[in-house]
Formats: sequence, C-alpha cells, structure tokens
Amino acid sequence: MNSQPIGVFDSGIGGLTVVRSLMEHLPHENLIYFGDTARVPYGSKSSQVIREYAIQDTEFLLSKNVKMIVIACNTVSSVALDVVIKRSKLPVIGVIQPGAETAVKSTKNKRIGVIGTPATILSNTYTNTIRQIDSSIETFSRACPLFVPLAEEGFIEHPATELIAKEYLFDLKLKKIDTLILGCTHYPILSKIIQKVIGDNVNLIDSGECAAHQVKKVLEETGLKNLSKLKANLEFYVSDLPHKFTEIGERFLGKKMGKVKVVHL
Ligand code: DGL
Repeated sequence: MNSQPIGVFDSGIGGLTVVRSLMEHLPHENLIYFGDTARVPYGSKSSQVIREYAIQDTEFLLSKNVKMIVIACNTVSSVALDVVIKRSKLPVIGVIQPGAETAVKSTKNKRIGVIGTPATILSNTYTNTIRQIDSSIETFSRACPLFVPLAEEGFIEHPATELIAKEYLFDLKLKKIDTLILGCTHYPILSKIIQKVIGDNVNLIDSGECAAHQVKKVLEETGLKNLSKLKANLEFYVSDLPHKFTEIGERFLGKKMGKVKVVHL
C-alpha cells in the first residue's frame, strides 16, 4: 500500500503548483496527476457540473490504484469535497481546510481576505470554514477570474497583471486585512505582483502549500507514508493536450515534466 501513488487532480494545469509543493515536502512519494484540460476552467461553471466532473476525475484516479486523493483545485475543494470523499473511501485532502487553518493562525487583527474563482467565492466555503474555526474573524472575498489566463500566458511581472491586480484588490486593501488566502491554483504564480499591490504588511497564504503539509501529516498518522528512499515516480495525465501545455506546465511545476499522457474520461 505505501508505495502506491498519491492521486492529485485539478481542473487543468494549475494543480501543478500543488504537485510542486508535494514534491518539495514529500520527495519519495509516487504521484499521479490528472488535469482536466479538455474542460477547464471549472471556476466559471455551476456547482452541479463541477460535482459531476469531480466524480469522473476521482474515478480515473481510483482506476490507477492510488492510496490517497489530493484535490489540488480550490474550486472542486469548495463545492465537491463531499462527493469525492463519498466516492473514493480513501483519505481525501482538499485545499480549503488547510488554507483556512493557516490563515486563522496567521491573522493578528482577525481580518482575512480570500481571492479565488467565481465558483469558489460564491460557495463561501473559505468564509464558512474560517468562521467554524474562529467565529470572531471577519472575512472579505473577491473573485479574480482574469488571474488564471494571465498566469497561463506567463504575464508574471507584467504591467497588465499589475493593473488588473490593482482593480481586483482595491476594496480588499481598504478593508485593512493582514492575511490574504491565494484561493486558486494559479495565484501563487502571481504572488510577487499580488504582494506588491496588497502591501508588504499582508501575509499571503498559498493554500496548495498548506495542503502539502496536511498530506504529510495524514500520511504519517495513517501509516501510509512511503518508506522507500528511491526517487519518486511522477505520472501526468490530461484530458486534452492544448497548445503550449508543456511550456506552461513546466513553469507551474518548476521543473521538466517528462511524458504527458492523454486520457478520455
Ligand atoms: N484550478 C482552479 C482553482 O484552483 C482554477 C482554474 C479553473 O477555473 O478551473 O480554483
């Protein structure tokens, strides 16, 4: 069981930022990644459709005999965590709870900002999770849909990104938040500009990075940790191979990807 891979899925390419964190903290864990590149973005779709897709993504990973499922996608973690748990009967880690817990620990003035896709923000899952941990905390949310194509386009430190970040983050800045959750797989790629615009006094929380810590903890608690010291095996699957996939993917992953296989769900 322990050498079986951890299955990670996302709506597309963005979840590779979560794989990057997992590789850093768990270098000996074998990983299988599925990105639903044929149907991305999920963030502008209805919860009903996202839940249907999440079940299909989960079934693909189950067919690969994974020992645990990591939902890298904030949108899926916000609206479909329950269906993935129900379908898989394996340990399932979403990115919301770990991100919310870290933000609660970080805030001093009890004012937390949350940015994400429209579906993530509409669901209010971050806000509800934060309130369950500490009901005295105030949250302020904003959907930032244009950050996704900007990150994929490689507009990392580009004036257009800065302009849009100023527009999106203006209200949050006025709310005097001291902590901001980057509630979308793509946003850590743009963290330099987001930090510049929101101000150095605001602590940015990368929900994927927080989830990687949680995965490590759960593997240890459940005895599922791979004890092998061999180099981990990484497999990448997508539902379509779009233009520039490898180039963008390697930017998100921070290293070479190797072979990517196309599967039809
Ligand atoms: N992976 C999605 C998320 O983290 C962003 C891209 C999409 O909208 O599908 O919410």
